[in-house]
Amino acid sequence: MKRIMKYGVVLVGCGYMGATHLDNISNHPQVNLIGVSDLVEEKAKEFADRYQAASWSTNYNDYLVRDDVHIVIIATYPSSHLEITRACVLAGKHVLCEKPMAPNLKDAAEIVQLGSTAKTKVLVGHILRHNSTFQRVGEMVRDGAIGSPVVMRMSQIKKTVDNWKSHLALLNQVSPIVDCGVHYVDVMRWFTGAEVVSVSGFGQRLEPDVPEHTYNYGMINVKLSDGSIGYYEAGWGHNMPNENLKEFIGPKGRIRITYRTHRPLEEQHLGNLIELEHYPDGRKEEFNIDFSYKPTGSQFQYLIRMIEENLDPKPYLQEFYRALEVTILGDKAIHEGRTIACVEQRLPDVVNL
Ligand SMILES: NC(=O)c1ccc[n+]([C@@H]2O[C@H](COP(=O)([O-])OP(=O)(O)OC[C@H]3O[C@@H](n4cnc5c(N)ncnc54)[C@H](O)[C@@H]3O)[C@@H](O)[C@H]2O)c1
Repeated sequence: MKRIMKYGVVLVGCGYMGATHLDNISNHPQVNLIGVSDLVEEKAKEFADRYQAASWSTNYNDYLVRDDVHIVIIATYPSSHLEITRACVLAGKHVLCEKPMAPNLKDAAEIVQLGSTAKTKVLVGHILRHNSTFQRVGEMVRDGAIGSPVVMRMSQIKKTVDNWKSHLALLNQVSPIVDCGVHYVDVMRWFTGAEVVSVSGFGQRLEPDVPEHTYNYGMINVKLSDGSIGYYEAGWGHNMPNENLKEFIGPKGRIRITYRTHRPLEEQHLGNLIELEHYPDGRKEEFNIDFSYKPTGSQFQYLIRMIEENLDPKPYLQEFYRALEVTILGDKAIHEGRTIACVEQRLPDVVNL
């Protein structure tokens, strides 16, 4: 594909994740921020001002008719991802769409289909694939640093303070197990190279304004085809601690990731920390992973590579579909109080996409 010196970029969804994207790319030498869009006028105006976008709109379609728009970043809630992605692809725009790619497998299958057949590129924002800390740990696990099978312990629990409204909007569409679990089920499959064979879990609704059909704390337990097992624990709420555990244990050792922000203040400039403890000799190694270049920037750079080197979007889209599938089955397992065998549940029409 022809290299464009400056890509005309539009952001749809001026919230937390929209800001994370623009913080990392608004000064990118190949980016011309054409516009920002949000259903809420004040948010669109505020973002246009903050990131010096040339324009703003409450209707993203305004941008799809313009020839100077090449890339649309979608950072809205999951129920709108398919509609906006479809409109962008039909208008000949490249898409970087936030995860989870959709709130259900039917929409997700259509996004995989669209992305696999479009002339333009579609990348779903599974940011950990572009995070150098996770890339490094993935290499270590796959290279046998801790042996196999592995136990994967992962939690992401957040005390919500001033962003509760935004979490409630998400909870109306997907549970915390689906919303962030897509990252960690993807990590389990990516690190082991194995398929998820079954999922079970539990959830609890702990706050009165959480919609009655869902929960704001939950956990899924996953078994993989190589004998590895893992759990993902998620919680959003006023009574939650801020906790972030990422640990991988095998017969030959243990790896733990500590995010920069969870390290003592005097160590934070060193970036993220990876600790590797070997068994049985107890030898310990530590790796500091520079975090000055953010994964959101690397992810955007990967989209540019997809465009300029004509990279196939299919493998990633299929991986992310699988991760979503497991979390949706995990959600079902939580609601039905049983263990679900994943492979039998696959939709035949997307297996061979
Ligand atoms: N990759 C990550 O690590 C990560 C982290 C947080 C959130 N997310 C994902 O990002 C997405 C957005 O989450 P958030 O936390 O930024 O939410 P948010 O509430 O902070 O922002 C969402 C914004 O989208 C706007 N919006 C909704 N529908 C729209 C539409 N059809 N057109 C234009 N604007 C629309 C809302 O008004 C709101 O301003 C979700 O899919 C979420 O799962 C990803």
